[in-house]
Amino acid sequence: MTLIIAVDGPAASGKGTIAARLAAHYALPHLDTGLLYRAVGLALLDQGIDLDDAAAAEAVARSLDLSALSDTHRLTDRGAGEAASRVAAHPGVRAALLDLQRRFAARPGGAVLDGRDIGTVIAPAATAKLFVTASTEARARRRWLQLLARGETIAFEDMLADIERRDARDAGRGTAPMVAAADAVLLDTTEMDIEAAFDAARRIVEAARAGA
Ligand code: C5P
Repeated sequence: MTLIIAVDGPAASGKGTIAARLAAHYALPHLDTGLLYRAVGLALLDQGIDLDDAAAAEAVARSLDLSALSDTHRLTDRGAGEAASRVAAHPGVRAALLDLQRRFAARPGGAVLDGRDIGTVIAPAATAKLFVTASTEARARRRWLQLLARGETIAFEDMLADIERRDARDAGRGTAPMVAAADAVLLDTTEMDIEAAFDAARRIVEAARAGA
């Protein structure tokens, strides 16, 4: 049976790590869809184009391919996350990236995708849908520790403000806002380490497979 796993949730909820672990466990390809929006945001910044220029952002998104996702160090820095969430609010950018994501989800044998709208828009018929959350403080702390570990200095309060701003923008946009699909299972990782979170996620997938 084809196994499609949709993992959605806010920034630093643990969804990316959980998705990667699930993909390894089930030997499925994994697409971190946030990287697509990050690549579009960075391309605009690199070319000196205003992130609010919807037409230019859409043109960049239309010509994006998966090879643009190889510079993961730059793509995962703080500026790229902020730029991603701004370009992700343009409906044309989302439309331009839709096919690529749907094709990935339709790979023979299945796939794991993580993002904000996988269970609602990209793969509404996914076998298993998880919506991974954690408290704002826990998420800000995780992201802050990650950035410190790679030598980026930022005050914790600024990280918290970043996360709150990004949540509000992602949940408040008109097209494909961040929201749990009606049939998604909520997984709150606030008190969990990665092993506990992966274990809980695997059990959610197993229950969904058994019910499918
Ligand atoms: O998941 P990540 O933090 O890398 O995503 C960066 C930004 O890309 C998010 O804040 C969100 O605005 C956008 N995004 C999205 N839809 C997705 C994945 C990411 O809008 N499926």
